[in-house]
Amino acid sequence: MPAPDFSVAGQHVLISGGAGGIGTAFATAFRDSGAQVTICDLRPPAKDAGFAFEVIDVRDTTAVEALAARIKTLHVLIHCAGRLIRHEEHKPDVFMDIINIHLVGNMRLATAFRPHLAATKGCLINIGSMYSYFGAAMIPAYASAKTAIIGLTKSLAVAYAEDEIRVNAIAPGWIRTEISRGGREEPAFNEKVMMRLPTKRWSEPEELAGTAVFLASPAARLINGVTIPVDGGYVAS
Ligand SMILES: NC(=O)c1ccc[n+]([C@@H]2O[C@H](COP(=O)([O-])OP(=O)(O)OC[C@H]3O[C@@H](n4cnc5c(N)ncnc54)[C@H](O)[C@@H]3O)[C@@H](O)[C@H]2O)c1
Repeated sequence: MPAPDFSVAGQHVLISGGAGGIGTAFATAFRDSGAQVTICDLRPPAKDAGFAFEVIDVRDTTAVEALAARIKTLHVLIHCAGRLIRHEEHKPDVFMDIINIHLVGNMRLATAFRPHLAATKGCLINIGSMYSYFGAAMIPAYASAKTAIIGLTKSLAVAYAEDEIRVNAIAPGWIRTEISRGGREEPAFNEKVMMRLPTKRWSEPEELAGTAVFLASPAARLINGVTIPVDGGYVAS
């Protein structure tokens, strides 16, 4: 029996929201593991880390399809683009916009890149959240989208199995990035999170990256349709 193969060397990985905190950590981890990385985002990365970069708004179907036409080979697609707007998401227009980025954007990218992933027998990695598991009074669109990511992950895993594409998701816990800044810096919110969180600390984006690399590797070839909490035990507590 050979040792498990955790290698992603030589794979081409596309990361939406790749200029953000988690996207950058994923891009770095895949690059350092020998993969070729392209990031796409509304904005360029803060510093040039040597990744190929494409401007994209994941709400724009034409732009996503044009990106898919430019990219010839792809092994791993990670939908990391995201936004939340605290206190605003009860407004239907804002609600729709947040759903569009997280959920429809996920579907848009998956549909555009399915042929690429079919050609390489690749994989799709979606991003859930702790709000995949419970409600959020201040950000109902974000929580709805993240709950739906679990369903989308299962549905696409079943649908894409005929192409031998695996579809999984990571549900990050409480990670120190821009999107979580509002909650982190609000003492009452922060205290509520810390009371339940066994590890009692905000985590760094790099702490998620090993799970993404593992999911993309041959060692994970039997893992399909699951959402893995990487959360320091928050969901368990
Ligand atoms: N940080 C956390 O605690 C946490 C927890 C659970 C889930 N997540 C999820 O992880 C993912 C990455 O978030 P992050 O923590 O790196 O936040 P971040 O704010 O650092 O990065 C998000 C990135 O998405 C990009 N983006 C936003 N709208 C876009 C659009 N329409 N098209 C293309 N790009 C767009 C932003 O420009 C930004 O670079 C998101 O899906 C987020 O919901 C984060």
